[in-house]
Amino acid sequence: MKNKVALVTGASSGIGTAIVLRLANDGFLVLAAGRDDARTELLRDQSQNIQTWVGDITSPKACADLVASCIDRFGRLDLLVNNAGIYESANAEQTSDEIWSQTIAINLSAPFYLSREAVPHLRKKKGVILNVASDWGLVGGKGAVAYCASKGGVVLMTKAMALDHADEGVRVNAICPGDVETPMLYAEGAARGLGSEEAVKEADKGSPTGRVTTPEEVAALVAFLASDAAAQITGSAIPIDGGNVAG
Ligand SMILES: NC(=O)c1ccc[n+]([C@@H]2O[C@H](COP(=O)([O-])OP(=O)(O)OC[C@H]3O[C@@H](n4cnc5c(N)ncnc54)[C@H](O)[C@@H]3O)[C@@H](O)[C@H]2O)c1
Repeated sequence: MKNKVALVTGASSGIGTAIVLRLANDGFLVLAAGRDDARTELLRDQSQNIQTWVGDITSPKACADLVASCIDRFGRLDLLVNNAGIYESANAEQTSDEIWSQTIAINLSAPFYLSREAVPHLRKKKGVILNVASDWGLVGGKGAVAYCASKGGVVLMTKAMALDHADEGVRVNAICPGDVETPMLYAEGAARGLGSEEAVKEADKGSPTGRVTTPEEVAALVAFLASDAAAQITGSAIPIDGGNVAG
């Protein structure tokens, strides 16, 4: 992966941090984009392959600036990982205008804006887009109307873009995790009055394999899908959820 360049959003916590560290370890030069200044900056100390960009990615302009910053720094882009996301537990009646618009903005529109900016650069390198969706982009989840709508949108955006760019050598895939032990899982548990440990234990029980997925396992799937070994995989939405959506 020497000299290949990856741009990863949502880098300052959870799955994003694991992806950044895995890709840097595999030899990618990584632009780690995070919203939290201090936590994003910490990533720079972890590897000389990591540079950072701090900001909110909800506007088209921020997304254009982020991709432009990557090209200014490295002169190329080989892999875009759209990983940043938010989750608010709410059924339709509980979903305020703000929850709806923020969830769609971060989970669906930002991956679209970033992908649109990235395609001209990825085309030059036969690059890859990986969208971290969710198994709740494949099946419905209770009390997650905006989240499921956004992640289902990401899955079909992935497939549409894969078809548009297959003959240009650009691959586009979605990764669909089930419960992963990250701050998002803790926050979802907290909303139901559970501590972090209880939330993980409950999620473990709900998984056919008896445990939740680790951020490092998601990062390993990213590394594989980004590699030439996955050259024939495009337009796929791949669950990594211990069999959760198998039934
Ligand atoms: N943890 C799970 O159980 C789980 C399950 C399925 C899918 N996912 C998906 O995995 C991805 C990563 O989630 P995670 O579990 O690591 O959660 P997390 O809360 O630890 O990380 C989410 C990241 O997104 C960033 N982010 C949110 N809004 C942003 C904005 N406006 N601008 C820039 N960055 C923003 C946050 O700063 C954070 O770094 C998300 O897309 C999430 O939907 C997570």
